[in-house]
Amino acid sequence: MMFSTGVVSTLAVASATMAAPSKKCRNESLPTTFIAGVEVVDTQIVRDAHELVKEFIELQPYLYNHVVRTWLLGAAALNNNATLKSEVDLELHAVGSLLHDLAWDQRDNSPYNSHAYRFEIDSGVAAVNFVKNHKDGGKWDAARLERLYDGISLQTIIGVSDFKNIDTQWIVKSIGFEFPQPRSPLIPEKFYDSVQGNFTNSTLFRGTNDTFTRFCVKDPETTYNTFLSVFGDEYVAGYSEKGARLFDLIQGGIQLELGQYPDVPFTPLPPVSA
Ligand SMILES: *[C@@H]1O[C@H](CO)[C@@H](O)[C@H](O)[C@H]1NC(C)=O
Ligand SMILES: *[C@@H]1O[C@H](CO)[C@@H](O)[C@H](O)[C@H]1NC(C)=O
Ligand SMILES: *[C@@H]1O[C@H](CO)[C@@H](O)[C@H](O)[C@H]1NC(C)=O
Ligand SMILES: *[C@@H]1O[C@H](CO)[C@@H](O)[C@H](O)[C@H]1NC(C)=O
Ligand SMILES: *[C@@H]1O[C@H](CO)[C@@H](O)[C@H](O)[C@H]1NC(C)=O
Repeated sequence: MMFSTGVVSTLAVASATMAAPSKKCRNESLPTTFIAGVEVVDTQIVRDAHELVKEFIELQPYLYNHVVRTWLLGAAALNNNATLKSEVDLELHAVGSLLHDLAWDQRDNSPYNSHAYRFEIDSGVAAVNFVKNHKDGGKWDAARLERLYDGISLQTIIGVSDFKNIDTQWIVKSIGFEFPQPRSPLIPEKFYDSVQGNFTNSTLFRGTNDTFTRFCVKDPETTYNTFLSVFGDEYVAGYSEKGARLFDLIQGGIQLELGQYPDVPFTPLPPVSA
């Protein structure tokens, strides 16, 4: 009796788990529209995120085109795989893609750039604030805001997002479509063509290089220990992260340690061959 009850309840737990829609379709009730031939979510918050980045059409056109292409190429990839499409939060993907580089804003009075953090962090904070201040932002719970922040803030930290949730992954993956590479088989050719035709990438890399170099001029401390420091080393007279690197911290630690533990020997492991 005890035995069979145990089996029944185990099975009941298993079937309840299977019945629970752990990967329910998250997009089914959302309105859509077509931009450059790509079907995308068309809710008020997505429309407003798109409006927000339109201010860069004049200021930094490469930035506007980059974030819209990121959104559309990502959406085209998701549209091309029904399983993926049902798993990814498409509204979150849209807002995250569109707002992922807000801190590239080069205006002196930029509301997005704190001048204290690297651009990925400031952009993540700005996107979260945009949602929190939006009239529909109350529908976003803390987990959704965290996914938004993670997808944006982890965009250049290669590999970290691979082991996070699928929403964070797809913000980063969509940005990845913009890196120089052969066209991805995940995106049908016709969408690459219509997205490129409507939102050109003709100045993406020159614009990016200029923006990254300007961070090294204006806020050098936000670039230390990041991939941005190379732009300072290459292009900015007087730029040097020497003294601020994690390397320098460790070297300082060695000197401190030798002072505190002068009698403790250290024997390195046998040398490695390259
Ligand atoms: C949601 O997914 C279904 C099935 O994949 C698709 O037909 C529909 O267009 C999608 N809705 C949105 C908002 O993308
Ligand atoms: C669609 O995406 C799912 C989930 O990532 C993956 O397992 C599957 O192989 C993909 N299908 C195709 C045809 O690429
Ligand atoms: C521009 O975008 C198109 C379509 O996505 C791509 O085929 C091309 O390689 C891109 N060019 C550069 C310089 O990234
Ligand atoms: C822009 O997108 C439309 C689809 O909305 C497409 O028909 C058109 O060819 C695209 N324009 C260019 C120049 O590629
Ligand atoms: C990159 O940007 C910096 C700053 O605008 C500029 O000095 C440099 O020439 C650019 N590099 C290339 C290859 O255009």
